[in-house]
Amino acid sequence: MSKRILITEPIIPSVIEKLKEHFNVDVGKRGAYNTEEALIAAIPDYDAILPMLSNPITEEVIKAGDKLQIVANHAVGYNNIDVEAAHRHKVQVANTPGVLTDSCAEFTLALMLAVGRRLCQAQEYLLAGKFDGWEPLGFLGTELQGSTLGIIGMGRIGQAVAERANALGMDIIYHNRSQLSSDIESQLDADYCSDLKTLIPQADVVSLHCPLTEETRHLVDADMLDLMKDHAILINTSRGPVVDEEALAQALHDGTIGGAGIDVFEEEPKVHPKLKNAPNCLLTPHIASASHKTREDIGMLAAQAIIKILQGNPASEIPNLIQA
Ligand code: GLV
Ligand code: GLV
Repeated sequence: MSKRILITEPIIPSVIEKLKEHFNVDVGKRGAYNTEEALIAAIPDYDAILPMLSNPITEEVIKAGDKLQIVANHAVGYNNIDVEAAHRHKVQVANTPGVLTDSCAEFTLALMLAVGRRLCQAQEYLLAGKFDGWEPLGFLGTELQGSTLGIIGMGRIGQAVAERANALGMDIIYHNRSQLSSDIESQLDADYCSDLKTLIPQADVVSLHCPLTEETRHLVDADMLDLMKDHAILINTSRGPVVDEEALAQALHDGTIGGAGIDVFEEEPKVHPKLKNAPNCLLTPHIASASHKTREDIGMLAAQAIIKILQGNPASEIPNLIQA
């Protein structure tokens, strides 16, 4: 009997077709598997699951997967999966590193430019009929040229942001668990700061590119926000809980920081109400990887891992498996 795959919600059709060439594929309705209960009820039927980052793949879910061989996340971040439990139950876990680096870096730059130059407020003003002619003091913003960008988390995405920021004439400082090699540092023209307390006060833009772990939860809290310059902008395209959203909203309302571009939230899809009406705060619905090309590449990379595992290939041949 052909093996069964659950794709938890509709994704790019070519990816679904690819998996259908090999297996019996079910595609869930949008949002149908956002709870542990729904996943536990469904998982016993499947040999592999291709979940979204909104699906909690907990130990309970994994334990219920009697036939489950692989969880191939439709995302690079995999904080929605209990990886340790999966490995204990001999279930492989894959993510999608690399393929969304450019799209996420481009989106990060889009947020910096849009918040720096107040694009959203400017459009609102115009559409509200308030544009009454060129104004010498209207919508003054921050130029990226000559500004200092502080990157927190210098993995693939952080480095891709640095490359682009260089082209815009920004000075780059970064913090990472480990310092990059001096070759890469000089290629990126980026200076290492061994701790956030020295990085944050120097930065005109702070951009987050670290994974969500116990160490990075609320990494940007009230104390860190206090260290930001009063005109500085915070950009978050990583994971919501890396920032204390309540403290961020407060800093924006108090004017102790200059603005924020936020694509990810602590309790998605909820957005802190004080963030929604905070000044100079651009909010987007977790779309940094949302280009046609990248979403297809993400799906294909996850699908490839499923195909290889279910066809019995050795884990060593699948570069995007998370190591135990
Ligand atoms: C998106 O947030 C991802 O982790 O791929
Ligand atoms: C993403 O691909 C990262 O590891 O930074």
